[in-house]
Amino acid sequence: MDVAEGLARVRERILAACAKAGRDSASVRLVAVTKTKPLEMVRAAQAAGQTVFGENYAQDLREKADALPGVEWHFIGALQTNKAKLVVGRAALIHTCDRLALAQELSKRAKAAGLTQRVLLEVNVGREPQKAGVLPESVPELLAQVRALPSLACQGLMCIPPAEGDPRPHFRSLRNLGQSLGLPELSMGMTADFEIAIEEGATLVRVGTAIFGERNP
Ligand SMILES: Cc1ncc(COP(=O)(O)O)c(C=O)c1O
Repeated sequence: MDVAEGLARVRERILAACAKAGRDSASVRLVAVTKTKPLEMVRAAQAAGQTVFGENYAQDLREKADALPGVEWHFIGALQTNKAKLVVGRAALIHTCDRLALAQELSKRAKAAGLTQRVLLEVNVGREPQKAGVLPESVPELLAQVRALPSLACQGLMCIPPAEGDPRPHFRSLRNLGQSLGLPELSMGMTADFEIAIEEGATLVRVGTAIFGERNP
């Protein structure tokens, strides 16, 4: 699969979804998900004008960010507290802050590094027991705790809706929650559903497969 071609197609689909929803396309940013993909593919996407990339594993983020320092990296995977130090400062935005202990560690590391770490709160919109994320009703409490910590800036919410069923109600509930809390960023939508997410207000869509092809297990 040609990366530039995949990227061009995804950009067209984003523009079409924005037009359909009556949204300014500048209000939606594409995070190109490079999970398991080699540096050459990241470089190919960069050459085709892509500026924001997402990684799921802390070690991979470290390797790729250190190899390609000019890139805006986002961290989008499950983050163990003991790996927080690999991600703070390397990721412009961490999408997956979902518990106080992690927020405290991110805050501590960011403060020590003399920077402000931007984060999103990951919400378990489908209330799935096996999934990461804070339950919707617990978001206000976690947000208040995060806001009380130094060197962290919470900018919005992120979700991965259940694999089965219609994602739209989940995207809509994330948007309503974000609105009620005054949080502007909404990270939602992947290859299978990013157009629906855009219709429901996504400001960040995380797309891997449609750009880089299927991931090897
Ligand atoms: C949190 C998250 N967002 C987005 C993606 C990209 O998914 P897709 O390849 O379906 O676009 C992944 C892939 O693993 C992911 O883990």
